[in-house]
Amino acid sequence: MTKQFDILVVGGGPGGYVAAIRAAQLGFKVACCESNPYADPKGEPRLGGTCLNVGCIPSKALLHTSHLFDEAAHAFAGQGIDIGAPKIDVAKMLARKNGIVDQLTGGIKGLFKKNKVAFLPGHGAFLAKVGEGWKLKVGAEDVEAKHVIVATGSKARHLPGLTVDNKIVCDNVGALDIDAVPKKLAIVGAGVIGLEMGSVWRRLGAEVTILEAAPGFLGMADIDIAREAKKILTKQGLVFQLGVKIGEVKATKKAVSIAYTDQDGKPAQLDAERLIVSIGRIPNIEGLNAGAVGLKLTERGQIAVDAHCRTNLPGIWAIGDVVRGPMLAHKAMEEGVMVAERIAGQAGHVNPEAIPNVIYTTPEIAWVGQTEQQLKDANVAYKVGKVPFLANGRALGIGAPEGFVKVLAEARTDRLLGVHIIGAGASDLVAEATVALEFFAASEDLARICHAHPTLSEVVHEAALACDKRALHF
Ligand code: FAD
Ligand code: NAI
Repeated sequence: MTKQFDILVVGGGPGGYVAAIRAAQLGFKVACCESNPYADPKGEPRLGGTCLNVGCIPSKALLHTSHLFDEAAHAFAGQGIDIGAPKIDVAKMLARKNGIVDQLTGGIKGLFKKNKVAFLPGHGAFLAKVGEGWKLKVGAEDVEAKHVIVATGSKARHLPGLTVDNKIVCDNVGALDIDAVPKKLAIVGAGVIGLEMGSVWRRLGAEVTILEAAPGFLGMADIDIAREAKKILTKQGLVFQLGVKIGEVKATKKAVSIAYTDQDGKPAQLDAERLIVSIGRIPNIEGLNAGAVGLKLTERGQIAVDAHCRTNLPGIWAIGDVVRGPMLAHKAMEEGVMVAERIAGQAGHVNPEAIPNVIYTTPEIAWVGQTEQQLKDANVAYKVGKVPFLANGRALGIGAPEGFVKVLAEARTDRLLGVHIIGAGASDLVAEATVALEFFAASEDLARICHAHPTLSEVVHEAALACDKRALHF
């Protein structure tokens, strides 16, 4: 018998599960289907998508453990704590990470029950338009819904011709499950995953070399931030080779050898015990049967949507990594909320200008709004306030004096245009900047707000003051 719903959400990642919960809160009869291979103890696919299973959450768990290890090895002695050389039990580190994944993915099933969202284990594939709605196959069942929200996410892009076994040659899935500290780790791609996973294994003792095709470093970040990040991460021991061209990669059961040409076009070779390929992600529409119903794709293979995530077909919406925009969990979640509210006739909206970005290295890197190079390219007259963490008492107290906050404001109106942070706590500090941007604040608004002392947030405050050349502590 065909199951009937108001809304079927295809994909239970951060975009999909949040859309399902919000839609249920709004009174719709909602189902969410999910088909990933990460089975829970009941043998059902886990909810949470890339983010909870093989992305944000497990990577942050490993970053935390490796950070503690690094502090114990290098920072404790300077504060008078003598514990000798720390040892890492990789199996225990992975078990802790897996426990967090279990807890959170199981928690979403609990949230579905609480909100009366029907969970349908199985792959969703479009069959046809039926009346005002759509018919899909989910696993072996037929399901009809008036609205379908496609939230099928993304998967790792691989190097052409190179098999990823997720043991020696890994994408994000294997990178989060490496079972021993490799002596030498090679990474292709100095993007977000390259820097985060490179940091994890470098801290635990691996020699990490990152091969990057682009001639510049971290091109998506503000140029000052990228320069500072490269300096700090290099000092920590990450080795970067920029402007390379990857050639043949040979992998055995124990090692991998990567032939490449360096920035000057000279042939070179990198040998390592493991390789992580982190060269971006591609939208996932595998098995969705999008073509059968005429769902329009972009030339990059994403589902084409408008500003409110409407596709070319009535009643079909698409959100998250499978559509344009940054591939970030919080962006996917906000789009999920927006679409559920739009279906309910409300005015849900996502502001693409105020989506924060965070890279969870040490120090953390975070920003919201436009970079200095974007403002230059757009011929916008701007002013800059830049203040280092070195001038902040709390930063010195916690042994994290590196980095700075850079505030960019429009020269004529003083409106905040971008806030860029490299430093301790950047992932949390960027929230204040995001609120300010959303409320169209001026740099003076930030400058006139009382910030608690001693906190890292005072650096944001000082950088806003510096926009008007009136920083007090720098
Ligand atoms: P996904 O999370 O990819 O979920 C899509 C789900 O749909 C999957 O579970 C898939 O199995 C399922 N699916 C696909 N097709 C079908 C179908 N036809 N039927 C049924 N189910 C289907 N973002 C951040 O914001 N912060 C971070 O710190 C961060 N860290 C990351 C670290 C790593 C290593 C990686 C790889 C990514 C990270 N991301 C991070 C990105 C983040 O994971 C994604 O942006 C986010 O998961 C996208 O959510 P989504 O719901 O669009 O898709
Ligand atoms: P990325 O887009 O961040 O970086 C990929 C890098 O690989 C780029 O620098 C690119 O120039 C380089 N590259 C591409 N092809 C190459 C090649 N053939 N040889 C060498 N280098 C090559 O992608 P990444 O790191 O794979 O992460 C995917 C996405 O997942 C991110 O863009 C982000 O959206 C999300 N993510 C977010 C995190 C966060 O928010 N903290 C953490 C990890 C991932």
